[in-house]
Amino acid sequence: MAGHRRENDRRPREARCQVAKLNVGFIGCGGIAGAHMDALSRIPSAKVVAFCDVDLERAQKRADQFGGGKVFQTPSEMLEAVKLDAVWICLPPFAHGAAEMACVEAGVPFMVEKPINRSLQQARRIADAIAQKGLLTAAAYMNRYRKGVNQAKALFEEDPPVLAMGGWIGGTPRPDPAHPITLWWIQKDKSGGQFIEQVTHTADLLRYLCGEAMQVSAFAATGFNKDIPGYNIEDAVAATVKMSNGGVALLYSCCASNARGGVALSVYGVRHAAEFTG
Ligand SMILES: NC(=O)c1ccc[n+]([C@@H]2O[C@H](COP(=O)([O-])OP(=O)(O)OC[C@H]3O[C@@H](n4cnc5c(N)ncnc54)[C@H](O)[C@@H]3O)[C@@H](O)[C@H]2O)c1
Repeated sequence: MAGHRRENDRRPREARCQVAKLNVGFIGCGGIAGAHMDALSRIPSAKVVAFCDVDLERAQKRADQFGGGKVFQTPSEMLEAVKLDAVWICLPPFAHGAAEMACVEAGVPFMVEKPINRSLQQARRIADAIAQKGLLTAAAYMNRYRKGVNQAKALFEEDPPVLAMGGWIGGTPRPDPAHPITLWWIQKDKSGGQFIEQVTHTADLLRYLCGEAMQVSAFAATGFNKDIPGYNIEDAVAATVKMSNGGVALLYSCCASNARGGVALSVYGVRHAAEFTG
């Protein structure tokens, strides 16, 4: 990108800057990839040019939907064949690893969907490889970019949170072949369970506002959700956490409450409180 704004230059920002077209590739072309592709299609300086999915039909469907491009079945084929400026990795938790390592090897910056991995050891190996390469990366923990969250963060820097409580309460999952996420989400070895898959957003927000978790204890409930083929995740989890700022937190997940639910995080300092919902 180049160009300095002259005082009297009233052209729109895009016209003022000479922006090189950013060629983007996708690894994983399912539900959330569609949302990212849609957002990128509204940025004139970006173009999705390569689509990779183990299911080639899905890759082709997204290519047709977003102006065409090359389709691939493996990340390394895509990275070898197309010169990319950035990659969006939109894989389910169990499928991470090879995609990130291929991007690191090719030196291509990437954005990775949450949760970034199901295995702590593999996540650490990837983080080390990224650091060694000095590669620009991002994770889709989008709450960190919200204005309200950053206003709260500024207040809590002066008034450290003493207590936080939050999580995600939803209904019994219904597997539906028309929506692939509903099939892998209910399997422990694929999603890691609801706490890892969904409450990861709340855990990240907690880390952003209160620092790292120093000690954790947790209990799980099972046996409430019955007769769901393939289902073997926890029905509910309650975790207590000691944070590095000295405060304590209670985090929870539940995917067996069909009467009431919601997503929330409440944070309490000595002088301020913040409530996040949705
Ligand atoms: N940031 C958010 O708020 C948000 C919202 C929705 C989903 N997500 C996350 O995005 C991830 C993907 O969710 P989704 O709804 O798109 O799932 P999905 O099942 O709709 O799509 C995943 C896609 O990845 C493909 N895939 C699987 N293994 C692959 C591999 N090894 N190489 C290439 N492609 C592979 C599948 O064929 C599928 O098309 C999940 O971890 C989910 O938690 C994040």
